[in-house]
Amino acid sequence: MTFLEKLRCLFTFGQGVALPMPELDEDTTPLELFTKWFNEANQSGVLLPEAMSISTCGADGQPRSRMVLLKEFDEQGFVFYTNYSSDKHQQLTENAKISILFHWGVLQRQIRIEGSIEHTSKSQSEKYFHSRDRGSQIGAWASHQSQVMTSDDELKENVKHFTEKFKGKDVPLPDFWGGIRVIPHYFEFWQGRASRLHDRLCFDLKNNETKIFKRHP
Ligand SMILES: Cc1cc2nc3c(=O)[nH]c(=O)nc-3n(C[C@H](O)[C@H](O)[C@H](O)COP(=O)(O)O)c2cc1C
Repeated sequence: MTFLEKLRCLFTFGQGVALPMPELDEDTTPLELFTKWFNEANQSGVLLPEAMSISTCGADGQPRSRMVLLKEFDEQGFVFYTNYSSDKHQQLTENAKISILFHWGVLQRQIRIEGSIEHTSKSQSEKYFHSRDRGSQIGAWASHQSQVMTSDDELKENVKHFTEKFKGKDVPLPDFWGGIRVIPHYFEFWQGRASRLHDRLCFDLKNNETKIFKRHP
């Protein structure tokens, strides 16, 4: 974001700035456009630009959404890390389809990515797990993510237990914890515009071909 755009954002009370859609040539990939927008979100000063909502839907047909952090992305897909015993993972076991949503209000931008999931390799999960601070590593062992708590002290007691257990040692990667990679088959880039005439640029990657089109806003 340029200095002038930042000023404009300030004087419109955070309503943001409507940036133009970039010029695309026929070889532009959705990953290139995602990378450009993600970099611009990082430069905009927005808090946690890597925060994304993920929606999953298990066998009961009830969709659920929650925020996670995007940790890696490349041609292989979009990776976040979580507890494999969590509710989200249970839903993904029943139905491997997922939808990701980013919203960067200050840029008036939204990106939707739809796809299916696979697990990251153990070595990739291990590498990321050990890059986290020790407190977060112990926290991963202590939290039975999504399970109902039996008492307010349960988490604290678990932290104490695992702190003692791993004292003086490296904290190992729990076998119930690791990465999930979203392999995308649909991208939609939404750019806010005046008079609600927003841009919606879509890339459909199904059946080994890329269809690029726009939708009415
Ligand atoms: C900004 C933000 C980032 C988060 N990042 C993660 C994350 O990367 N991984 C994760 O498992 N939970 C993360 N959480 C917590 C999840 O939103 C959620 O509460 C948790 O994963 C349990 O979800 P589930 O019960 O639907 O599985 C984050 C929450 C917020 C608000």
